Amino acid sequence: AKVGVLISGRGSNMAALLYAAKHPSCPYEIVLVAANDPQAAGLILAQAEGIPTFAQSHKGLKRAEFDQIIDGELRKAGADYVALAGYMRLLSPEFVAGWENRMLNIHPSLLPKYKGLDTHQKALDAGDSHAGCSVHVVTSELDDGPVLAQTPVAILPGDTADSLAARILIAEHQLYSRTLADFVTRDRQPPLPK
Ligand code: GRF
Repeated sequence: AKVGVLISGRGSNMAALLYAAKHPSCPYEIVLVAANDPQAAGLILAQAEGIPTFAQSHKGLKRAEFDQIIDGELRKAGADYVALAGYMRLLSPEFVAGWENRMLNIHPSLLPKYKGLDTHQKALDAGDSHAGCSVHVVTSELDDGPVLAQTPVAILPGDTADSLAARILIAEHQLYSRTLADFVTRDRQPPLPK
């Protein structure tokens, strides 16, 4: 399966997907890394690893207009699936519809708890014993859509939002590549018309 990854920043989940894809038994390959911020640090790594990249700022463009550009790049690259990896933009309904059942997201909480931002602080404030991460199919609602897999991560005494985020990130990297691999195998969609 051919996967396009959308990022906005650091791109550590993108890197995890990319390195998992190097294993001979991995059922997907990364065909494009696209960013809505030309300064996204993850672009440099993707380029160094020989992955085609696309970067354009969304500023000054209407959401649907910008998403159409990204959609065109994904299709040009031959992607059949999209993995959102720290992509900090809401997607237009048209874009989401075009990738229905072909787009996954990783979110640093045990959904349906704590959608949106500041998930780690929210888990700490709530006194939860565990935080964690979820991979879900993307629908037009933020951080909604069927959850495919989750990893609970213990909250330790003295944890801060940063220390917790760092530990959850380790779990994210494992969970995302495995869940994406399972998804493209189990829930395989017909190739998109080119
Ligand atoms: C991750 O915590 C991810 O779950 C969230 O945004 C963060 C992105 O980090 N959606 P990175 O860019 O993958 O390093």
